[in-house]
Amino acid sequence: MTSKKVYLETFGCQMNELDSELVSGQLQGLGYEIVERDTAADIVLYNTCSVREQAENKAWSRIGLISQRKRDGEDIMLGVLGCMAERDGTDLLRRHPEVDLLCGPGELDRLPMLIDNLDRAKASEHARQTAMDDRVALSGNRSRRWSVLSAAENNLELLDLARAFDPDPTAKFAGRSAYVRITRGCNKFCTYCVVPHTRGAEVHRPPNDIIDECRQLASKGVIEITLLGQTVNHYRYTHGTTLSVSGLEIPQVGPGLKAFQFPDKNTSSVGNTTSFADLLAGIHEAVPEIKRLRFVTSYPRDFGDDILDVIAEHPRICPYLHVPAQSGSNRILKLMNRGYTVEQDLEFIDRAVARIPDISIAGDIIVGFPTETEEDFEDTVALLRRVPFKNNFIFKYSERPGTVCKDRFEDDVPLEVKKRRNNLLLAVQSEVSAEVHRKWVGREVDVLVEQVSKRQQKASERSMAGLANGVALTTEGHALPSAPDDSRVKQLSGRTAGDLIVFFDSSDQSSPAEDLIGTIQRVRIDDSSPLNLSGRLCHT
Ligand code: 5AD
Ligand code: SF4
Repeated sequence: MTSKKVYLETFGCQMNELDSELVSGQLQGLGYEIVERDTAADIVLYNTCSVREQAENKAWSRIGLISQRKRDGEDIMLGVLGCMAERDGTDLLRRHPEVDLLCGPGELDRLPMLIDNLDRAKASEHARQTAMDDRVALSGNRSRRWSVLSAAENNLELLDLARAFDPDPTAKFAGRSAYVRITRGCNKFCTYCVVPHTRGAEVHRPPNDIIDECRQLASKGVIEITLLGQTVNHYRYTHGTTLSVSGLEIPQVGPGLKAFQFPDKNTSSVGNTTSFADLLAGIHEAVPEIKRLRFVTSYPRDFGDDILDVIAEHPRICPYLHVPAQSGSNRILKLMNRGYTVEQDLEFIDRAVARIPDISIAGDIIVGFPTETEEDFEDTVALLRRVPFKNNFIFKYSERPGTVCKDRFEDDVPLEVKKRRNNLLLAVQSEVSAEVHRKWVGREVDVLVEQVSKRQQKASERSMAGLANGVALTTEGHALPSAPDDSRVKQLSGRTAGDLIVFFDSSDQSSPAEDLIGTIQRVRIDDSSPLNLSGRLCHT
């Protein structure tokens, strides 16, 4: 056992957040203490993301600061985990000699061993001679070779499963919300994206492991689970083909994009397979304590009616889709290798809205993809106006090393143009979001309470300081409910099943407002803005 202190910082996506949670749990289980500040740590770990340049730059600047402290004589072990480690490989160690260890996203189960190797080498005063193999765990091309893939995946599977027995009680919303991975990696090879290169081949976890993990999390008090995969609707597990020596099912490599051609739009199970729809229904049935089951990210192609039916027919599966369109121009979609047209995307969205009228739709858009013209951009604007997106994450294209784009296309849209298109899209999205939110005014919704609203706390601090009404306004100019004088009443915020943000005041009759965090409350919506809804608690 060790008493070393570890600082772990995460960059990028939800998949990384989950990986960091697993790494923390694993290290804590071995006696390491996780600390809040890098200044208090013996070991500093950065779980990095290389999907976009911005997240990467942030990580580089953090690595630079710790490297400087090491050069100034501080005794810190510095580790780079995640996609930047996998992509740059040992080259990163050569360019940044202060980095002690590298661990790719597919090798995180080996992290404690790497730390241990370095510690032991240091104890025997061989720190600088520590063999590369002892401080580097990367998948490299190995992840695409089937023979070694299954063994590695099996170890990773254990890492996922181990977490379920001890979820972090200090995690989001009083430990009530958790991520569960269903698929690792990606086989789609969009031309701009590093994920297939850093996270490797698409691998599906056995459904029974997923259900067990959900059950374990529920037994620890989790009521909201978000299933994670790069393209969740392509989840598919064929039983009876991959059995480990112990006879248990193990993770399984998924088919490529071409395997998904369903003219009848029905992705349901055939014979001995578990489809994504089966998996959703299976979790819903097996774990009734999970009050909200959602999933990200969906691929706009191959989203079968069977999945929509399961969402519509199961009350605890959230009517929410995160389904990135990326562009509204067919020419750009083709260059992106997305494998669908705008018309196919719209056909899916229309089908989803017809089957589930209250469905919330979010997405991602890239502006300034190589060769994007004003006309292509206008097509994207038209797509945003056509689809009732509750929000879109809008990204300026950035060239990523190792991608097809970097090899084949010039990053030829000037930064100024990217910025202008980005701002224009944000303005359009704001109008669309306002419209989507307005439709909820006058209705009652169930809200999973997340926190005491920071905005309202600030407003009440301002008014307590005697300043002119520090009240937040909606776009229509209505005031959000202001913090009342009664200090027992606080403004809380949370989310609907469709992931819309809601503000409301706690009741003065109830116990402390904080007690509501992590519970589901019925709220009547009185007002809306492009960003959120506001209302009041319904008393039953
Ligand atoms: N440049 C800009 N945005 C990107 N994304 C992925 N790769 C890039 C890139 N090279 C965006 C996509 C994806 C989201 C996670 O990040 O929109 O859906
Ligand atoms: Fe990247 Fe495309 Fe896979 Fe999404 S589907 S992770 S954008 S390659």
